[in-house]
Amino acid sequence: MQRILVTGALGQIGTELVPALRDRYGSDRVVASDIRVPHAHGLSASDAFEHVDCTHIREIEHAVRRHEVGTIYHMAALLSAVAEDRPRVAWEVNMGGLYRVLEVARLHGCAVFLPSSIGAFGPGTPRVGTPQDTIQRPSTMYGVTKVSSELLCDYYHARFGLDTRGLRLPGLVSYVAPPGGGTTDWAVEIFHQALRHRNYTCFLRGDTRLDMMYMPDAIRAMMELMEAEPGKLVHRNAFNVAAMSFTPEDLAAEIRKHIPDFDIDYEVDPVRQAIADSWPESMDDAAARHEWGWKAEYDLPGMTADMLEKLGRRAGSAS
Ligand code: SER
Repeated sequence: MQRILVTGALGQIGTELVPALRDRYGSDRVVASDIRVPHAHGLSASDAFEHVDCTHIREIEHAVRRHEVGTIYHMAALLSAVAEDRPRVAWEVNMGGLYRVLEVARLHGCAVFLPSSIGAFGPGTPRVGTPQDTIQRPSTMYGVTKVSSELLCDYYHARFGLDTRGLRLPGLVSYVAPPGGGTTDWAVEIFHQALRHRNYTCFLRGDTRLDMMYMPDAIRAMMELMEAEPGKLVHRNAFNVAAMSFTPEDLAAEIRKHIPDFDIDYEVDPVRQAIADSWPESMDDAAARHEWGWKAEYDLPGMTADMLEKLGRRAGSAS
């Protein structure tokens, strides 16, 4: 039986991807791995977990051999703001980790999923209706690693026939795990602060429009892409996927429909503002829709209602 290995399983996406994969394919078919230890992070003790530092090829290879892994969802990476603060570490983890994962995948015939990002675009890219194939000259270390990752995955497909597939994900919103060091983290923090304090101080300007997506759509997109008929894929690394596009002002107005006295103010962080200003407002995801049937379910009102309900319920059960 071939299994699925998830790297970075305790991170923002991995925390929700692992249970979703286990639901879909069976618990015994999914192996979670991370550089951190799982105890404090809510994974059940009976579920397969491996300690894997993706900058060490032997650790990846050990997990792949031991569990007969056929597919790797490679989620281990640094997000944009942290990467800008620690560019050398970002290169080593984001590129060094991917390179080693691809090498192990080549030796053992594994398929690989790569999460790319709106961060793979830059100031020279059209920001509205960002095409699938367009200028990619990012101005951040995060973006440099994302473009390089897309190219490296395409290279392994073309040169070695590896089944590599990827998505350019928008900023992700989730009520489960905190993001940790991204430029779009504000869109998660705002919900927590709205429920706790009826107030949020945003680190981006109120009119900063970015592509965003609710985590359930992102998780479904990853699994649907990996299940897609390979013959239909013209593109591989990586597909634009879009769901909604909003500013802090838009989200605050939507939250106010549920919490009328919610207030937002702004203390702009110039580093993260510059990153956001170089990213797309809205990607064109026609290629994903045509090649493998992508369609988002959640829009801004649907996501906001669900986030507030889920976080509110959680706060209720904790008190
Ligand atoms: N959400 C990510 C970040 O802000 C973008 O891919 O870094």
